[in-house]
Amino acid sequence: MELAKRLNRLPPYLFVEISKRVAELRARGEDIISFAIGDPDLPTPSHIIEYMCQAAHDPANYRYPETAGLPELRKAMAEWYERRFGVTLNPAKEVLPLIGSKEGIGHMALCFIEPGDLALVPDPSYPPFSLGTILAGGESYFMPLKEENDFLPDFETIPDEVAVRAKLMWLNYPNNPTGAVASFDFFEKAVHFAQKHNLAICHDAAYTEVAFDDYKPPSFMQTPGAKKIGVEFHSLSKTYHMTGWRVGMVVGNADMVDALFRVKSNLDSGIPQSIQYAAVEALRGSQEHIAEHNAIFQQRRDKLLKVLNEIGLTARIPKATFYIWAKIPQGYTSMDFTKKLLDEAGIAVTPGTGYGKEGEGYIRLSLTISDDRLEQGMNRLLAWRRRSK
Ligand SMILES: Cc1ncc(COP(=O)(O)O)c(C=O)c1O
Repeated sequence: MELAKRLNRLPPYLFVEISKRVAELRARGEDIISFAIGDPDLPTPSHIIEYMCQAAHDPANYRYPETAGLPELRKAMAEWYERRFGVTLNPAKEVLPLIGSKEGIGHMALCFIEPGDLALVPDPSYPPFSLGTILAGGESYFMPLKEENDFLPDFETIPDEVAVRAKLMWLNYPNNPTGAVASFDFFEKAVHFAQKHNLAICHDAAYTEVAFDDYKPPSFMQTPGAKKIGVEFHSLSKTYHMTGWRVGMVVGNADMVDALFRVKSNLDSGIPQSIQYAAVEALRGSQEHIAEHNAIFQQRRDKLLKVLNEIGLTARIPKATFYIWAKIPQGYTSMDFTKKLLDEAGIAVTPGTGYGKEGEGYIRLSLTISDDRLEQGMNRLLAWRRRSK
């Protein structure tokens, strides 16, 4: 048996080392508190689940779904964009449901990247941007997200010869892992850059609804000209706490949406229909839980930031996302510091380098942990700090 060489181009999965260590410690009976995973602990609102259960009893939903999704779902997605962002989308041509946005993000590279082509990818970033590029045979040019630039890429520093070879640029605001946000002004610069260099933009907007302090993150699709050169990926995972149900969407440029549809229709048969109906209910039903859940995350954010400060880890106050991107003390690598927290305090976090080399010097902590466990975790961090003084 000979596996394809492209598999060898995938980098080693950096989180594996930490996951293995967590599993070993847990097998020994140790209680590890994990701040490592961005998966909401709060439940999917019950009206959504009830809708799904009803739909699951309908024999029409036992059958294969279609890649394009139910017209009703595409319509509900377009309506949601109109209500939330004032962005008008044609549900037949500018909206495509995805089996979670990760799936669409990974497959999008197949629509643009030929062997040897470049994608512009932020560093640090959500790994599928660069991994999809590798699987399509291309390479990533990494755009550093520096704290002094508010974790935004500086387009001016991208060499012309790189921009000429690039087919696609990935952006993601509110940002995982840094928690940074982008302004309309930044999105306008991105559109100008794409127009100048004839490249497409994929903006990942998975976290626009997880926001604090009355801040409302914008959509890239609100930018003049965005629909001519780009699409936006969105997800019901973080907004409606539906990570397990797998519903996302891509919206925007009709040719790009159609290209992704052509790839996907050859590979998958869409989202199970009862889940599509649940997604319609999520998008059209009560949105009250969003503010309630954000208030919970905001409280957790403030408590954890205070403790991190007390133990000497500095972090900006994120206006959105449920992540804290904390600077570690000098003299440690992100990986060493992550291991130290795990072994000495029983706390699991993600090393910044799991998101790219610019993540060195940082760790990411997720607020998707119950209030009790958060309290225990914070006490442990404080006790660990006192012991190690
Ligand atoms: C930036 C970003 N985009 C997309 C996703 C994937 O979300 P989905 O559940 O829709 O696949 C995640 C999940 O963690 C994410 O952090």
